[in-house]
Formats: sequence, structure tokens, C-alpha cells
Amino acid sequence: MIAVAALRRPARSETGDPLLLTPGPLTTSKSVKEAMVHDWGSRDAAFLALNRQVMERLPEVVHGEGRYVTVPMQGSGTFAVEAMLTTFAPKHGRVLVLVNGAYGQRARRILEIAGRRVVLHETPEDTPPDLAAVDRILAEASEITHVFAVHCETTSGILNPIDDIAAIVARHGKRLLIDAMSAFGALPLDAREGPFDAVAASANKCLEGVPGLAFVICLREALAGTEGQATTLTLDLFDQNKAFEKTGQFRFTPPIHVIVAFHQALEEFWAEGGVAGRRGRYSDNARVLIDGMRALGFRTLLTDALQAPIIATFHTPEHPNFDFQRFYDSLRARGYVIYPGKLTVADSFRIGCIGRLTAEDMRGALEAVRETLIDMDVDLAGAR
Ligand SMILES: Cc1ncc(COP(=O)(O)O)c(C=O)c1O
Repeated sequence: MIAVAALRRPARSETGDPLLLTPGPLTTSKSVKEAMVHDWGSRDAAFLALNRQVMERLPEVVHGEGRYVTVPMQGSGTFAVEAMLTTFAPKHGRVLVLVNGAYGQRARRILEIAGRRVVLHETPEDTPPDLAAVDRILAEASEITHVFAVHCETTSGILNPIDDIAAIVARHGKRLLIDAMSAFGALPLDAREGPFDAVAASANKCLEGVPGLAFVICLREALAGTEGQATTLTLDLFDQNKAFEKTGQFRFTPPIHVIVAFHQALEEFWAEGGVAGRRGRYSDNARVLIDGMRALGFRTLLTDALQAPIIATFHTPEHPNFDFQRFYDSLRARGYVIYPGKLTVADSFRIGCIGRLTAEDMRGALEAVRETLIDMDVDLAGAR
């Protein structure tokens, strides 16, 4: 039965903005944004102390304290991925790139531009890497020095089996480089269990800072062996780290306000219980969202076993009245910003579960979806 949707006040964040149900930039807390209202000198002791605190604690997120060092990189997440790949992949090595989405493809492109040789293992966007095939490739191709994997491939929201990948890579004596951009801080990654040389992430995903700073957490002894390997001046992690060791300072202008906001975001991250706390809240968000969308008649791309609690991909309904732009605009008017799909194989859209959002926000979003379907005269659940 179709009821007429009642008009309600649009949902808003603490600062009166629409809620971002996206893979980032995300909705952040008011206190994180408020941290940015001051000016700091980039060589001033107060800022340097704060920056040091940010860098020092990050390896704890992956249980790498002592053995790993954080090397921050100005820019978006891709800057950190490019810095990691072009610093760690040696000129005469070869990198096995595991691809099941756009971010694996991007890594391949970065390596090719840098003139690094690549071997691809590609699976469809809804399929994790074939571990037996990875094992075989590593056994046969002795010139492979490094393996690159994406922890949560945000293209679909799929959770790749990073611990199993790490175990296989270690068994073959190869080195692992991880893009954990959309997973870091919410999905467990343990350097004691599954060894890796470096993991790239950013301030503005599950750590709920603002965009503009990325970082690579590097195994100290592996980073020490990368001198002279980088293909650019700006993205040279060895050099960036050397400057920190020598002066405690960035080589080039740091995004000061972003770092101060990140410091506040990390305080809130630890206060929420670190990875366990954040994973708990995002898992609740994802559960409410996915169950609710299915009840409304939408189909997820992934089965629950493959779904990370980060972002969910839904097939675009084939109903003749369903129009994605109208759907998007109507949700936006109700205070919820969603994301178009990025799949190559199917028409889809995505709804994110990360950022300063609660299960209550997800229930609000579901109500907005329900009202929008009514407005568009699309009855998906009834049509099944
Ligand atoms: C897994 C993954 N890698 C890399 C990136 C690139 O990050 P950015 O868009 O900040 O450059 C993203 C962005 O969503 C991502 O999800």
C-alpha cells in the first residue's frame, strides 16, 4: 500500500550540514571542525609537538608501535598510495598487484607511470582475490619483490582477506604494501599477525578527520632500505621521514589546520575505544542500512560474508519509474548525501556507513529512502 509521505525537517549534522553517507570526505564532529579556527606556525614548537603526537600514536592502530614509523604526506589518499608504491617498489623489482576495483587499477597505473614492472591478478569487483592463484603466481615468478593489496576495495565495499594475503606473501619471502584507505581505524589490521612493509591511509576516512593529509605507516627496517628509490621529490617517503628525524618538521608546507583537526579526531577515536569502538558503531550502521534497504526491495551487490561495514553497493532498481538523479536529489533535500556507483559491471549506487553517523542516522536515511520511493511511485518490495 502506498501512503503519502509526510514532510519532515531535513536531517542535519551537529553543524547544520547534510549528512554525508559517502566514502569520504565524511561528516565530522563539530569539535574536529572547531579545532581549525586557530593559526599555527609550521615551525613553531606548539605545532610540532602536536604533529609529533599525531604521528607517534598512529602505529598503535595496527599494533606496530616501536617497529613502524608514521610518515605523513600532504594531500589526498592517492598521494600516500603513490608515495608508498614509488618509494618501496625498487627499480628492478616487480610488483604483483591484486585488483578487484578502481583502487587496485589506480595502483597499477601509478606503478606503470613510475616505470615499475607489474604483474596483475584481477578478479571481478564482487570477488576477492583467488588465494590459490596468488600462491601459484608467487611460487612461479621469482622476480616479484612486492605485492600490493587493497584492504577494503571501496569501489564495491568488498572486504579483501588481508590476513590470508599477508600470510601467503610472507611464506614466499615477498614484501606486502597495503592500501587501507577506507578501512584504517575500523577494520582490524595487525602487523604482529600479518606482516607488511607499509600501509597507506588518510585522515579523513574512518579516523574522521578532515581531508588534506594522508600517511604511510612504514616498517622502519624496510623504509631504511628505500633511499634513492623514489621517482619524485615530493612523494619520497625516505626523504620525508629523514626530515622528521632530523628536524621534526615537514619538508614542505604542512596542512596545519588539517593536522590540528586530525589531532582532535584521534582523541575522539581513542575515546570511542579505537578500532573496536569504531568498528562496532560502523557495523551497527551497516546492519541497519543493509537490512532496511533489503526490506524496501533493494538488492546488495555483495553477500554479507564479503561486505565490509564501510560502504554498501546497491543495484539500481530496474523499475521504470526509478530515476537515480531524482532519487539522489530527493535524499539530498531530506538531508542525506549518497554516492553514485563506481562499478564497471552493473548499474549501481553506494551508501556509506562511516563518519560521524549513528544507527539512528541510518534509520533516518531509510525513512528518507522510503518516502522517496513513494514520491517516485516505485514499489520494489511489493513487486517481488
Ligand atoms: C581504497 C581507496 N584507496 C585510495 C583512495 C583514494 O583516496 P583519495 O580520493 O583521497 O585520493 C580511496 C578513496 O576513496 C580509497 O577508498
